[in-house]
Amino acid sequence: MEKHLEEFFPAGTEEGRLLLQVDLDRLPRHVAVIMDGNGRWAASRGLPRAEGHRAGSASVHEIVEASARLGIGVLTLFAFSSENWKRPRPEVGRLWRLLREKLTKEDGLLVRNDIRLRVIGRRQGIPALVLKEIDRVEALTRENRRMTLVVALNYGGRAEIVDAARRILQDGRISPAKLDEKAFAAHLSTEGLPDPDLLIRTSGELRVSNFLLWQIAYAEIIVTPVLWPDFRRKHLLEAVLEFQKRDRRFGDVRSGGERTGKRS
Ligand code: FPP
Repeated sequence: MEKHLEEFFPAGTEEGRLLLQVDLDRLPRHVAVIMDGNGRWAASRGLPRAEGHRAGSASVHEIVEASARLGIGVLTLFAFSSENWKRPRPEVGRLWRLLREKLTKEDGLLVRNDIRLRVIGRRQGIPALVLKEIDRVEALTRENRRMTLVVALNYGGRAEIVDAARRILQDGRISPAKLDEKAFAAHLSTEGLPDPDLLIRTSGELRVSNFLLWQIAYAEIIVTPVLWPDFRRKHLLEAVLEFQKRDRRFGDVRSGGERTGKRS
């Protein structure tokens, strides 16, 4: 076992035993997560909702590092949706403050683990101080290669598709006949990244909530009842193991249809 894995998933622990079952050559290349349940986690302890988000940021720290060490290429986290503005103003304010604080204080985690940050979502609307930190940490980690951490902020899947369509029309360089899926995807905010193979949603809700609508076309979806602040590295390993049991056919009748190019 490689040292960087052994340290994080020690032999003899539950995590160590789960890791032994994972096929490291068949990891999902891209894992996307809808981090849900922070509010319920806080309510069940009689705490304000903001405390749930703070506890959720500890899960973010652990899952980011665990994913990088495992060898997952891209991890995308849904941190603030375009619909989250409807929440009470104090909660919205605290969420942005927390996100700014994490960007400021967690840059070392990204640097130490060779992780590149990429933020997706509409910049317009994001508080200026948060934008400043986004720009700083994206620039700081630009050359990092081990994993790309995509954080979706002020993000909505439909808005992203509309923005892509707008850009294509404004550019006017692609004729309607030439516009295919590849050309369209090149105008999305995830341009250059593989589509998620695995979408995890915590807290048991069976919805995709306007997240990566285009990109999750063939993602395996795993919903766990665990609330996000309780989600730890062992839950990530369990999700990866469940993913590795799935028979991915991409519309083909045979497994691995992706490689035959016959999606339907
Ligand atoms: C959903 O739980 C969670 C959010 C809207 C915010 C997620 C943000 C974090 C975990 C903060 C840290 C993030 C980063 C990237 C550092 P909810 O409030 O909808 O929970 P509920 O459904 O139980 O009410």
